[in-house]
Formats: sequence, C-alpha cells, structure tokens
Amino acid sequence: MQLGTVTLFFLFIFSFLPSQYGAELLYNITPSHPLSEGQTLVSPGLIFELGFFSPTSSGNKYVGIWYKDIFPRKVVWVANRDKPLALIDTLASLRISSNGSLELVDGKQNSVWSTNDTLQVSSSNTSSVAAILSDDGNFVVKDVIGVGQSIWQSFHHPGDTMLPNMVLGYDSKYGKGRFLTAWKSESDPSSGIYTAELGRRTDMPAQVIIWINRSIPFWRTGPWDKSKFIGLPDMDDRYLSGFKLDENMEQGTKYYSYNLPDKTLAYLDLSSQGKIKLMSSENGRNWSLYAETQRNRCDIYGACGPYGFCSISESPICKCMKGFVPKLHQEWSKGEWTSGCVRKTELFCERQTNKKSVPLQGKQDGNDDGFWKIIRAKVPDYYQYITSLDPEDKFNDCKIQCLNNCSCLAYALVNNIGCLVWYKDLIDIQKFSKGGVDIYIRLARRELGEGKPIKLIVCLTAIGLMIIMVAIVFGLHRLRADQKESIPTSRDTLREFIRKHDPSKLLIYDFDTILTATDNFSITNKLGQGGFGPVYKGMLQDGKEIAVKRLSSSSGQGIEEFKNEMLLISNLQHKNLVRIMGCCVKEDEKLLIYEFMPNKSLDTFLFDTRKRAVLDWAIRFNIIQGVARGLLYLHHDSYVKVIHRDLKVSNILLDEKMNPKISDFGLARIVEGTQNLENTQKVVGTRGYMSPEYAMGGMFSEKSDVYSFGVLVLEIISSKKNTSFSLYDQQLGFLAYAWNLWNEDKGLELVDEILGDSYSSSEVLKCVHIGLLCVQDNAVDRPTMADIALMLSSEKHGPQPKLPVFTIQNSAYHPQPHSVNTNSSKNEASITMIEGR
Ligand SMILES: *[C@@H]1O[C@H](CO)[C@@H](O)[C@H](O)[C@H]1NC(C)=O
Ligand SMILES: *[C@@H]1O[C@H](CO)[C@@H](O)[C@H](O)[C@H]1NC(C)=O
Ligand SMILES: *[C@@H]1O[C@H](CO)[C@@H](O)[C@H](O)[C@H]1NC(C)=O
Ligand SMILES: *[C@@H]1O[C@H](CO)[C@@H](O)[C@H](O)[C@H]1NC(C)=O
Ligand SMILES: *[C@@H]1O[C@H](CO)[C@@H](O)[C@H](O)[C@H]1NC(C)=O
Ligand SMILES: *[C@@H]1O[C@H](CO)[C@@H](O)[C@H](O)[C@H]1NC(C)=O
Repeated sequence: MQLGTVTLFFLFIFSFLPSQYGAELLYNITPSHPLSEGQTLVSPGLIFELGFFSPTSSGNKYVGIWYKDIFPRKVVWVANRDKPLALIDTLASLRISSNGSLELVDGKQNSVWSTNDTLQVSSSNTSSVAAILSDDGNFVVKDVIGVGQSIWQSFHHPGDTMLPNMVLGYDSKYGKGRFLTAWKSESDPSSGIYTAELGRRTDMPAQVIIWINRSIPFWRTGPWDKSKFIGLPDMDDRYLSGFKLDENMEQGTKYYSYNLPDKTLAYLDLSSQGKIKLMSSENGRNWSLYAETQRNRCDIYGACGPYGFCSISESPICKCMKGFVPKLHQEWSKGEWTSGCVRKTELFCERQTNKKSVPLQGKQDGNDDGFWKIIRAKVPDYYQYITSLDPEDKFNDCKIQCLNNCSCLAYALVNNIGCLVWYKDLIDIQKFSKGGVDIYIRLARRELGEGKPIKLIVCLTAIGLMIIMVAIVFGLHRLRADQKESIPTSRDTLREFIRKHDPSKLLIYDFDTILTATDNFSITNKLGQGGFGPVYKGMLQDGKEIAVKRLSSSSGQGIEEFKNEMLLISNLQHKNLVRIMGCCVKEDEKLLIYEFMPNKSLDTFLFDTRKRAVLDWAIRFNIIQGVARGLLYLHHDSYVKVIHRDLKVSNILLDEKMNPKISDFGLARIVEGTQNLENTQKVVGTRGYMSPEYAMGGMFSEKSDVYSFGVLVLEIISSKKNTSFSLYDQQLGFLAYAWNLWNEDKGLELVDEILGDSYSSSEVLKCVHIGLLCVQDNAVDRPTMADIALMLSSEKHGPQPKLPVFTIQNSAYHPQPHSVNTNSSKNEASITMIEGR
C-alpha cells in the first residue's frame, strides 16, 4: 500500500517531466505565440504554471494549471476536463483565435475546446489580446492595449478547486452559479457526481451543500452566521476565520471566498469522494492538511433520517428526538437509520384543527404544545427565516411566532442570524460536543414531561436520585388514609419515617449462623449466580429454609445505608411479595436473607416443555391475580410507592402451593444504584419487559411496571416468551401477534395448547384484554394496577387496546448478566444500558 503510493507519486511527477525540464517558460500567450507541448505558461512570480499534463494511468491529455513548485502536484484547474486530447497527440496547441476566444486545437487543428467569450470591443483587431497567468492562479484572457479589460478568466469557470481570492456563489438574477465540480476519480478530471454549491435562495442565510448528481444532498455546512458555518464547530477555533460571505439581497447575489491569514499558498478542493479538504503549504515545497470536513458518519446528510439526530460520541449514533419513536423499528435496530422517526403524540394544535367540533377536549388534559431543546446542534435543513422580531425580547418573540403557526415544527434563535424556523420534516441534525446552537423542537406537552402524568415521573426521578438505593424508587408517597404523618421528602426524613415504622421485624443475623446454614457457602447449596453475587440455599438450626443472597464485596455501600435500606424493604409486607427475613453485615460481607421458595420461579415451569403442564388454567389465573395484587400493593397501598422496574417471569417465585411472590425488587441493584444513579442515567431492566418510554428515554413510572405486567400476563397465558417469539414468526413481534389475534376475535388461540380445552374462555379473554391494554405504547393509555384489579375481579371491560408497535429488538442492546435471581433461573438476564440523550 505504502509502496504503491510512493510509486504512484513518482509516476505522477514523471508525467510532468516534459513540462518541467526543458520546458520553455512563456509569460503570455498571444495570437502569434500559441502554447504548444514542451512549453508552459508561468505566472510572473513563478507560483503557478499552465501546460499540458496527463494524469497517472490515463491515456488522455489535458491543459491545466498547478502550483509550480509544490509537491505532490495539485492540478487546480483543467481547461478541457470533459474533452480530453489523446496522449499521443503532441502537436496540439492552445491559441487565441481571430475573434479573441481561447481555443485548444488538436494536432489536426480541429477545435477541441474553446471559451465562448469573445472580444466585443474591437473584434476586428485581436493582436492586442493576450492570455496570462496571474500569481493567484487566475488564467485571464484580456486586451492588453485597450482598456486592459479581461475577456475571459478561469476563476469564473471553477473546476474542483477553490483558490484564495477566488469567489464562488450565486447570482439569482442571471440564474448563474459558480460552484465546484469534483473529478470523476483521482486520475480522471472529467466531471464527477459531486458538486459543492452555495444555497440558491438569497433571502435565506446561506449554506454550502455538497450534492450528488446535483439533486441528492450529501453534506451541508449549516447556515452561515456571519463568521462561521453552524455545522462546522471547528471553524471557531482555527481555520476559516479567513472565510467571507458577501450577500447582497437587493442584487440577489451571494458569494463566498477565503483567505487564510499568513498563508497565501493554499487550496480547497472537492475530492472525487465528495469531501472537502483545505490544504496549505508553509514552506512552498509540500502540502499539509489544514482542515477537512466530513470526518464521521454523522456528517452524512440525513444519517439518522427525519426527526432523528446524530451524535458521534454516543452509541448508537442515531437517536430519535424526544417524543418520537423509530418509524421502522426493525431497520432502526439494525442500524439502518435513514427512515427516521415518527411522532408519538399528535401535536395539540393539530388535534385542535382536526377536531374543530370539540375544541375544549385538550383543555381537560391541561394540554398544549411546548418545546424540547437540543443543545449544541447543527440545525436541520430547510430552515426559514423570520425577519421581523421584537428587538426587546427576540427569544420569546421567535418562540411565540413559531407557536402561533401549527406548521412550525421547531425554532432556533441564532446569534448574528436571528430567528430560524422549520416547517418541513426536520432532517440532518447533529449534536456536537462543542459549538452548534440550541434548537427547540415542538412537542405535545404531555411528551415533554411537564404534563400531569409525566410530572409524576419527574418527581419519581428526583426523589429516586436522593434515595441512592436499590432499584426501588420512591415516588409520590401515599399514606394510608388513617395515617397522619407527613410525607417523607428527603433521605433523612425517610429514615426517620422508617424508624417509626417498626424496624424490629428485620432480623440482623449473625454471620456465623449464616455460614453454618449454608455450609460455608458450599457449592452444592448454590441456587444461582448473578452479576452481583451468588444465591445460596441454607437451613437454619430450627429447620427453617432460607435463601441467602451474597452481594459482591465491591458494593461500596456503607453499612449504615445498607441497614437502613433493609429496614425500608422489610416494611413492605404483602403475601404476594417475597419476604426478606433479615440481613447480615460483617466487614465486606453483605448478605440478604429471604424465605426459601421450594417451587423456584415461574419460568422454570412456564417455559419448560413438560413442566408447564403443571400450570393448569386455575393456577395460571391465580398467579396473574396474585402478581396483580402484589403490584397493586407496591404502587398504591404500601406506605411508599415502589416501582419494581424489573418485573418478569423469572422474578415471580412460587411457594409450595404455587402462590406467586414477586421477588428481587431491585435488590440486585443495590450495588449499582449506590455508585451510579446520581451521575449517570441508566436504564435497568430486562429486554422484552421494558416499556417504550423507559427503554428509549429512561423514563419510568408505575406505568412501566404495568407494561411489564402486561407482557407477563400474555406470557403466562401462552407459555411463549416475548423475546424469543420472533423465532416463530420473523415478521411480527409477540405483542403485535397477540393483538392481531385479539382483533380478529381469535384471542383464545393465544392459550398454551397444553391446556387443551380446560380453561374458562371468559377469564382467558379478560386476561388477554388486560395484557393488551397494559402493553400499549403510550403510557397514558395503559390502565393503573387499581383499574386492573377492578377488571380482574369484576365484569368491567376496559377500552379497546391499541396496536403495540414498539418492540425492542435483540440486536439493539447488549445484555449483561447483571441480575441475581434468587433461584436457578437464567433464561433472562437483566440488562443495563447507558442512556444517552
Ligand atoms: C471564435 O472563433 C473560433 C475559431 O475561429 C470558433 O470556433 C468559435 O465558434 C468563435 N466563437 C464565437 C463566439 O464566434
Ligand atoms: C460554449 O457554449 C456552448 C453552447 O452554448 C456550450 O455547450 C459549451 O460548453 C461552452 N463552452 C465553454 C468552454 O464554456
Ligand atoms: C491591429 O493593432 C496593431 C497594434 O495595435 C496594429 O499594428 C495593426 O495595424 C492593427 N491591425 C488592424 C487590421 O487594425
Ligand atoms: C448519479 O448519476 C449517475 C449517472 O447518471 C448514476 O449512475 C448514479 O447512480 C447517480 N447516483 C446517485 C446516487 O443517484
Ligand atoms: C514538508 O516539508 C517539511 C520540510 O521540508 C517536512 O518537515 C515535512 O515533513 C514535509 N511534510 C510532508 C507532509 O511531507
Ligand atoms: C404558517 O406558516 C406557513 C409556512 O410559512 C404558511 O404557509 C402558513 O400560511 C402559516 N400559517 C399561518 C396560520 O400563519
């Protein structure tokens, strides 16, 4: 590779040799002295040179201009790029014809290429016309005697290279543009597919766009803010301070140019790959890279599709904006992002327009539209520009003007530009680590986390962070009606609260007792292993069986905190929750002691080809009801609101009578919570059970548990796993499959075939219905556990469920075995993923 480059390099030089050595240097071309092979035209300062050349491995010959003494040779302009001469034609010449045009003729004196501009003033006498090369690289044909006016110049006909002092741009009056057109390949100067053009609309802040075939955008700079392009955050620090953009709105012209400070030897070129590079030479002998664009995948136009945004420092690089979900989930999860995202909740103003007859409907939800901010962004394409702004309060005026027009999807107030607004699909947004501007995306307020249902989540999160613990998170605390104490709001008062609530139930076990009970944590007593430590079976001296979870010693949690948390958990008492009996702390050892569940977890039955026959419909229905009661307690009836966050089949333990007990509410994450909850936002849960808003945005509420519960119910009915369902049907997710059956009145087909006909169809249908209501994409549409309890125990029917379109694809996330199951189940590993926004 290296060798090849070197060889090419020498070949490249070699092809110039005829013009370099023994070449006769001319300072001008006149009608009587054309330029022939073996001669070159040089600029007065010997900086530029024009002559015949042939690119490496090309059978063609061209007339071009290059920097005379800087290597590797860079051809900055080619006259006959699309009309080459044959390499063997040594009699070709470049001459000034009788009408003053510049003409390239081949050996047979046939015109190959010519300029179209001719001498207007004194067409009868061309002897005073000459073509010269100036020291800035401009090849000029002019009347040297008359007024010295130039008839034609190469700077008006750019190729793939822009030189300092060159001016490119657009004149809307004449519909004329000057832009760069890339070479077809490194060795073929003919017009390639890429062009770099300045946006044609003169009434908008300008941006440079690289097009493919002049129709498909490939890259853009973002609008010019009078000192830099917004999409080039590096422009601030160093280069391009020499860039200039002259806009004349009245004349309808717009031109840009550049001059690097202290560097006259430079060029900017559009490569045959569609990339822009700025090269400079310090010493006048060789080139070095000064700046380049399009350095990563986020730079490709619309890399994340409409309503997606790209951030190269995150993985995956593409995300949907808040309030949007991938349009095609399958493609998106495979990393094909260009289809972009779609809005989850219709804008309030749209709803208003669509339902003119009931204008007050939205008011009842306390709804309107608001904005979500993306910071340090490259603004989307297709911006419009609001010129009339209240000078006193530009920012709010910009916002209000956007808010007042329902078609306005976003706005940004940019220094030196003003108010940019968007009416078309937002595309090509990048989030930078520096530079960029803030853009505000219009959303229905309930997507913003400001509306009623979401306030709860925000509150939950805030308090959850304070209680640096577990994955148990405390939300709005709800006291039982008969309790008069005030609601604990901070960690300290919460501790107080716990102390008043009978801590005696929590036993502190002696470490030696546990050692004996588990036979020194003997391997034969091990029930399971998770990322946070193993779980052992033990037997106390009184014959009582226990399960001992041994947390990894690196938990980093203080003993006091650990004990307090145990107090908290031990106060959660319900027959459908696994009971924690106590804990044990000795030096680095932290142990949790639970009651032992002889029938292990639900998944050991449910997903076992033979054992699932044990679960007849009565048992399954009982399990569903039990889990619902347990959750109802956590959400509504306990002294603090608890969100489980990791409800799944393997976390439902079964006692000797097959009664369900919810386990593992967050215990596995004591360690992690202590270390990370405050600093990083982590989505912790299990693939297949995570609600869309939680998986995508990290927002959780009781409705995320409700979602998991819905998945659980459908799994219990069918004995099918949500996550591995695609094995049966690649096209359809399990949830959508269930919904389709329901919708076609075939809900009973979902029932595990091992049950035969021995089930109550009304109970099954009720459960399918509830399951589908719970897994609806929109948290607001899902019932609460209280609603569910009511539906389960009565004949009350819920509304028609909506099709769940959200499915987390396996490939999108990287599961890590972080969950400790109190028993040997290992089918589902809890996963942890960094949530980036
Ligand atoms: C100028 O003269 C050349 C050769 O004499 C001819 O090919 C070309 O068409 C002329 N151009 C115009 C604009 O008359
Ligand atoms: C001269 O004009 C003709 C027709 O108008 C056009 O096809 C040709 O590309 C022009 N040549 C140059 C060098 O501009
Ligand atoms: C053209 O101009 C040159 C120099 O100015 C002059 O010598 C020559 O006589 C002129 N020819 C004609 C035909 O006017
Ligand atoms: C651009 O045009 C060329 C020639 O017409 C065509 O072969 C190529 O596929 C086009 N490229 C794209 C991306 O459309
Ligand atoms: C350019 O030349 C300078 C001095 O001759 C040398 O130090 C530098 O490495 C050269 N750069 C390249 C890219 O060849
Ligand atoms: C909203 O903006 C669009 C695009 O500029 C415009 O066509 C439309 O008339 C505006 N609507 C209102 C109500 O101002």
